[in-house]
Amino acid sequence: MIEQRVVPSDGLTDDERTQMRALFAAAWEGGFSQEDWDHAFGGVHVLRRVDGKLVAHGAVAERTLWLDGVPLRAGYLEAVATWPEHQGHGHGSAVVETLDAIIRRDYQLGGLSTGRHPFYERLGWLAWRGPLAVRTAEGDIPTPEESRAIFVLPTPSLPEPDLDATLVCDSRPGDAW
Ligand SMILES: CC(C)(COP(=O)(O)OP(=O)(O)OC[C@H]1O[C@@H](n2cnc3c(N)ncnc32)[C@H](O)[C@@H]1OP(=O)(O)O)[C@@H](O)C(=O)NCCC(=O)NCCS
Repeated sequence: MIEQRVVPSDGLTDDERTQMRALFAAAWEGGFSQEDWDHAFGGVHVLRRVDGKLVAHGAVAERTLWLDGVPLRAGYLEAVATWPEHQGHGHGSAVVETLDAIIRRDYQLGGLSTGRHPFYERLGWLAWRGPLAVRTAEGDIPTPEESRAIFVLPTPSLPEPDLDATLVCDSRPGDAW
C-alpha cells in the first residue's frame, strides 16, 4: 500500500527523522552533509511510504530569491530522494508533484539546484539562463559554477519569470544554491 504524508518540519517524529537519514545516506551514497540536512528543515516535507517503509522524500523550505533586484518569497526544494531499489517507479515524481502544488499555492517562485535536468523539466521546472549570485554582507557574489544547475517553477503570481534576468539567493551555511 502506498501512502503519502505531508508534514511540517516540527511535526516529524523521531522515527521519521531516523528513516530520512537512512534514505539520504543511501540515495547520495554518503555524500549528504549535515548542512544539506539542515537545508531541508523549516518548511514542509512529503514522505512517501510503501507498506509502511519510507521510500521517497522531498521538502520545500522558504528562501528569499531576488529576481532583477525584486525580492521574492521562494519555495526551495531540498532533499528529494528515493531509495535506490525503489527508483524508476514514479515515487520521486509523485513527491515533486506534491511539492510543486504547495509551491504554486504558497510561494511566488519555486527554486532548486540539480544535476537531474530531464527529471525536473518533465515536471514543469525551467532551467535558469541568466547570471546567478549569492547575497552576502559584502555584496552579491557571482556563482557562475552553478550555471545550468538552477531551476525555477513558475507560479500563478509569477507565471512567466524572465529566465535571462539576474537571480540572487540569500546566503546560508553550506551550498549557497
Ligand atoms: C532523482 C530521484 C529522486 C528520482 O526518484 P525516482 O523515484 O527514481 O523518480 P521517478 O521514478 O519518478 O522518475 C525517474 C525516472 O523514471 C521514469 N519513470 C517514472 N515512473 C515510471 C514508471 N512507473 N515506470 C518506469 N519509469 C518510470 C521517469 O520518466 C524518470 O525519468 P527521467 O529522470 O528521465 O525523467 C532519485 O533518482 C534519487 O534519489 N537520486 C539520488 C538523489 C538525487 O540526485 N536527488 C535529486 C537531487 S535534486
